[in-house]
Amino acid sequence: MALTPVHFFSHGSTMMLGEESESADYWKKCGDEALAHGIKGVIMMGAHWDANGDRIEVATKPNPGKSPVAYVHPEKYMHYKLNPDLPTAKRCIEILSSEGFNVRGNDSFDWIHDTYLILIRMFPNGCPPTTIISMNARFDPHFHIKVGSSLRQLRKEGYLIIGTGGAVHNLYRNRWGQMLRFSDNFAQETPPETWALEFRQAVEDVISNNSGPNLRRAMTRLMKHPQYRDAHATDDHFMAALFVAGAGGDEEDSGVCGKLYAETWELTNMCNSQFTIGGWDRLVASAG
Ligand SMILES: [Fe+2]
Repeated sequence: MALTPVHFFSHGSTMMLGEESESADYWKKCGDEALAHGIKGVIMMGAHWDANGDRIEVATKPNPGKSPVAYVHPEKYMHYKLNPDLPTAKRCIEILSSEGFNVRGNDSFDWIHDTYLILIRMFPNGCPPTTIISMNARFDPHFHIKVGSSLRQLRKEGYLIIGTGGAVHNLYRNRWGQMLRFSDNFAQETPPETWALEFRQAVEDVISNNSGPNLRRAMTRLMKHPQYRDAHATDDHFMAALFVAGAGGDEEDSGVCGKLYAETWELTNMCNSQFTIGGWDRLVASAG
C-alpha cells in the first residue's frame, strides 16, 4: 500500500498564477505525478480561511465560487471548474470530530486563490476531487499539527495532503512598487533583507533535517525563532506548515525528511519555497 507524499507549498502573491516560475513548474510536476499514481483526491489547508472560537470548518458548498485574483487576467482562472469532494469532506468532519475537534461543514464558503491557484497550476486539465479544511483563527501550532495528524491516515488511501501558505510571507515588508507600477512581481532591485534570508534558511533546515515527531517539534519551535515575526507579520501563512508537519510527521514517517524542490523570491522579501515530504515510492504494511 503506497503512502502519498505531503506538500508544503508557498503560494506567494496572486501573480504566481499568471507568471511562469520555477515554483509553478514544480507544482505542475507534482500534479502530474499525483495523477500518474491515481490519487483519490486532494485535501488542502490554505492560509486565507480561518474559523473563529475553537472551531474548524470543512468546505461543503457543492458549487463554490472563486474569489477574484488581483493582478491576474480572469481568463487564467474564471473557466477552471472546481471539484469539491463532498463525500471526503463528510469523512474529514467525522475523523476530526472523533479526534475531539469542534468541526462542521460550511456550505457557503467560496474558494480563494491560496488553494485554487495551486490546483490550477498542478492540474491545469481538470481539478481532482478536493477537500478544503479551514484553519482556526487562534493560530495555535499544536492545534494545527493535530489537524494534520488526524487526517494523516488518508494518505494510506491515496489522498494527497497539501498545505498552501508561505515560508517567508510578510505582506507589510514586501516591496510592492515594481509590481504595482510594472506588474513585475519578480523584480529584485536589492537582495532580500537579512531577516528574510535567515528565516528562509531556518525553514529549510528544519524540514530538511527533521523527520517524524521531531519535525513537528522543530516546526513548532520555528514560531519562536527570533526572525519569525519579521518573516510572518501574521500567523496565517505559517499554519499550513504545521498542518503539513502533522500529516507528515508521524512515528511512521521517522527517517523521511522533507526536501526543498523549488523556490521563487517575489517582491524582494517574500520567499516562496516549495517542500515535499516523502515520495511515491513509500510503502506501508497495511491501510490501518
Ligand atoms: Fe496567501
